[in-house]
Amino acid sequence: MKTQTKSKKVNKAWLHDHINDPYVKQAQRDGYRARAAYKLKEIDEALHLLKPGQLVVDLGAVPGAWSQYVRRKFAPKEAGVGGAASGALNGTIIALDVLGFEPIEGVTFIQGDFREAAVLAQLEALVGGRSVDVVISDMAHNLSGIESSDAARMSHLVELAVEFAQNHLAPQGALVCKVFHGSGYSQLAKLFKTTFRVVKPIKPKASRDKSAETFLVGIGLKMAAEKRVSGPIA
Ligand SMILES: C[S@@+](CC[C@H](N)C(=O)[O-])C[C@H]1O[C@@H](n2cnc3c(N)ncnc32)[C@H](O)[C@@H]1O
Repeated sequence: MKTQTKSKKVNKAWLHDHINDPYVKQAQRDGYRARAAYKLKEIDEALHLLKPGQLVVDLGAVPGAWSQYVRRKFAPKEAGVGGAASGALNGTIIALDVLGFEPIEGVTFIQGDFREAAVLAQLEALVGGRSVDVVISDMAHNLSGIESSDAARMSHLVELAVEFAQNHLAPQGALVCKVFHGSGYSQLAKLFKTTFRVVKPIKPKASRDKSAETFLVGIGLKMAAEKRVSGPIA
C-alpha cells in the first residue's frame, strides 16, 4: 500500500515536471515527437557533426525525434532555417529500433533488436559497404531498478554501437552514444578513448539534471576497420 502511494507521488511529480518542461513545450511547437531532439541539436551545434549528403545510422530511434532532426538538417537550403519535415532530402538516414516506428519521409526503418545477428545483418545490407558518416545511438532499455544488471545491459548496447562504428564509420566519422553515469561508465569512456582520436563527454541542457544520462561522442577512428581485421589483436 505504502509503495503504491509512493509510486503515485513519483508519477505525479514526473507528470508535473513533464508538463512544465520548456523542452516539451518547444517540441510541441516545433513538431518534434520528443524533447530528445534538443539533446542531439545541442550536441550537433557544439561539434558540427551532421551535414547534408551524409549517411547517418540512428540506433534506438523510436519515437523518432533524432531522425526528424537529421531529416530536417538534410533538407535543401531553400527549406530555410530549421529544415523541412518532408520533400527533398540530401543524405541517407537509416533508423533502427526494437519497437515500431511511425514513418518519417525519406527515413528507412528496420524494426528489430540491435543485439541480434540477423538484425545487424539487415542493417549492414542496407549500408551496403558504404562508409557511415555519423552513428547516433540513444538506445536504452527500460530500467529494472537493479543497478548492476541495468549497467551491464546498457554497457552491452554501448559496446555493440562502438563495434558497429568501428566496422562501418568513415575514418573521420563520429559516434554519438547515450551512456549512464554510474557503474560501467569509466570502462565505456576508456573504450571510447581506445577507439576514437577525439572523445567529448557531453551532458546537454535538454538532458534532465536528475537523470544519470549523458552522452559520449567519439570522432575519428584511431584504426581503420580493414587494419583491425588483418592486424594483430592487442
Ligand atoms: C530514449 S529512446 C530513443 C529516443 C529517440 N532518440 C528519439 O529521439 O525519439 C530509446 C530507444 O531505444 C530502443 N532500444 C532499446 N534497446 C534496443 C535494442 N536492443 N535494439 C534496438 N532498439 C533498442 C527502445 O525501444 C527505445 O525506443
